[in-house]
Amino acid sequence: MRISEKLVKALNEQIKAELDSAYLYLGMANWLQGKNFAGMAHWFRVQAREEQEHAMKIHDYLIERNEIPVLLPVAAPETKWGSVAEVFKKAYEHECKVTEMIYALVDTASADKDHASVSMLQWFVDEQVEEEAQSLELAETSEMIGDSVSGLMVFDQRLSARKDD
Ligand code: FEO
Repeated sequence: MRISEKLVKALNEQIKAELDSAYLYLGMANWLQGKNFAGMAHWFRVQAREEQEHAMKIHDYLIERNEIPVLLPVAAPETKWGSVAEVFKKAYEHECKVTEMIYALVDTASADKDHASVSMLQWFVDEQVEEEAQSLELAETSEMIGDSVSGLMVFDQRLSARKDD
C-alpha cells in the first residue's frame, strides 16, 4: 500500500523540522563557541549531527516506501542568547515541541492504519523520551549553575566528554 498523501506531506515537513533542529543546535554551538565554552559547543555539534541523522531516517523511509522526499527550505535559526541557561532551556522546550510533532505523525499513521509507518515512528517516540530527559537535566543543571564561573567551567568540561552517539 502507498502512504497517504497527508502522511507523506507531514513526513516531508518532519524532515525539514529535524534539519531545523540541526540548524538551531549548530547555532547554539556557535554561540557557545564564541563564549569559549568549547565543551558545550561540542555537545551541541554532536546533537546537530544526530538531528541530521533523524532527518535522513525519515527521508530514507519515504524512499523505501516508493515516495520521493520533497526538500523544503530550512529556516535560519535564532543565534543570539542571553545566557548559557537560556540556551539549554530553549533546547529543552524545542525537544518538547518535536515530541508533539512526532505524536501528531503517529496519530495520522494510526488513523491511516499504516502499521509500517507507526512502527518506523515508534523509534522516534522512544528517542524523544531520551531527548527530553537529557535536555531537561541539562536545562535544570545550567539554571542551578547560573553565572558561577567555576560551575560553568565544570559543566563545560563535563559536556566536552560527549561521544558521537
Ligand atoms: Fe530529532 Fe532532538 O529530536
